[in-house]
Amino acid sequence: MSASPHTDALSFFEGIPPQSLARAFGTPLYVYSERLLRENCRVLKNLTDIPGFAVNYSVKANANPLLLRIIREEGLVVDAMSPGELAIDLAAGFQPHEILYISNNTRPDEMANAIAHGVLMSVDSLSQLDLYGKLNPGGRVLVRFNPGIGEGHSDKVITAGKKTKFGIAPGDMDSVCALLNQHKLTLVGINQHIGSLFMQPDGYLAACRVLLDIADQLPAPIRKNLSIIDFGGGFGIPYHKRDCEEPLDLARLGKELGQILSEWRTKENYTGRFLIEPGRFVMAEACVLLGRVTAIKDNAGIHFSGTDIGFNVLMRPVLYDSYHEIEVYPKKPGPREERLQTITGNICESGDILAKDRTLPALLEGDLIGVLDAGAYGFSMSSNYTQRFRPCEVLIKNGGARCIRHRETEQDLLRPFEGLL
Ligand SMILES: Cc1ncc(COP(=O)(O)O)c(C=O)c1O
Repeated sequence: MSASPHTDALSFFEGIPPQSLARAFGTPLYVYSERLLRENCRVLKNLTDIPGFAVNYSVKANANPLLLRIIREEGLVVDAMSPGELAIDLAAGFQPHEILYISNNTRPDEMANAIAHGVLMSVDSLSQLDLYGKLNPGGRVLVRFNPGIGEGHSDKVITAGKKTKFGIAPGDMDSVCALLNQHKLTLVGINQHIGSLFMQPDGYLAACRVLLDIADQLPAPIRKNLSIIDFGGGFGIPYHKRDCEEPLDLARLGKELGQILSEWRTKENYTGRFLIEPGRFVMAEACVLLGRVTAIKDNAGIHFSGTDIGFNVLMRPVLYDSYHEIEVYPKKPGPREERLQTITGNICESGDILAKDRTLPALLEGDLIGVLDAGAYGFSMSSNYTQRFRPCEVLIKNGGARCIRHRETEQDLLRPFEGLL
């Protein structure tokens, strides 16, 4: 079997050998496919043809402005959850009316910044609604509700249900209405996000029904102003590709979502927008992270293959115990035995494990590995831990590759200390 079955089947690298990408741009290297990114955007946009349906890409998954430009060309809008994300959205060409600010525990200055940019904002607690009203009396606002249903690949990313910090409970509706009245705010939308990475549509669909019920509970004079109902993201992708993990059944999700929205739209005479807010689904599978094998060793019966992909480059395996499929691009062609190995990074912590107990072609120094599905929460969660430089990103298009983010340098690390040393 080929050591790169997935990228071969997709023609991910469009004929460019990964070894030549690594020679040209160095490693670690995030490699994106423009073709696959556009395809993902289109799949989501076509989820349902219900009027008002739109896709709000969640920028936290990947905020590279050159990738955001492609997403904008595909007709998606975006969220922001910090002044930095807002600045990046604007730099990528999104207009304020194409940005929805969805944050939590937001500082007054951050709120004021979003308001000054004329961006609509969602608040997720009564105290933040009160603060928003004080900063922008008479303004327009969204409220994030907690539908009581959570989903996700780890407790750390389940963002609704009883145990999370997110959203306002539907039981607090009277207090929401009182604050809206007190500050003369117009409630233009409601939103939720139940968590990240669901592989079955049922929980998401159930939560959509709950959010529409919440809309129904709003007093008619408030409900009539609703023009945005945002059901959140969380659309999962199959990370276990070797085991042929089933993808999310988007056909069923789209059909049932369309039915739910269509009925509600007719019943309420609603003419506004329905948003979904995926991050991972747009980006994850459009990227392979390349890393170099730097050392091989056996320690107490464990075979370690050491690479330059530390958890400063890809944090998900360490943070969530996440699984990423690995492909091997050998330095020298020829047959290789498969063997059990644990692939590690170059950080001084024993938890710096990229892939534990994997059976893969026996890696040798100088080989390259490709970490699949690295486009979401990959670069965006990377750091300078141990003063390593954050990696370069390249984009493959029409059989060519171009840099879309320079690799950091010593100057980048020293910039915050200019004039202080
Ligand atoms: C409010 C909100 N919307 C959307 C998303 C995107 O989630 P995903 O990347 O799983 O689609 C997140 C992720 O944390 C989020 O917090």
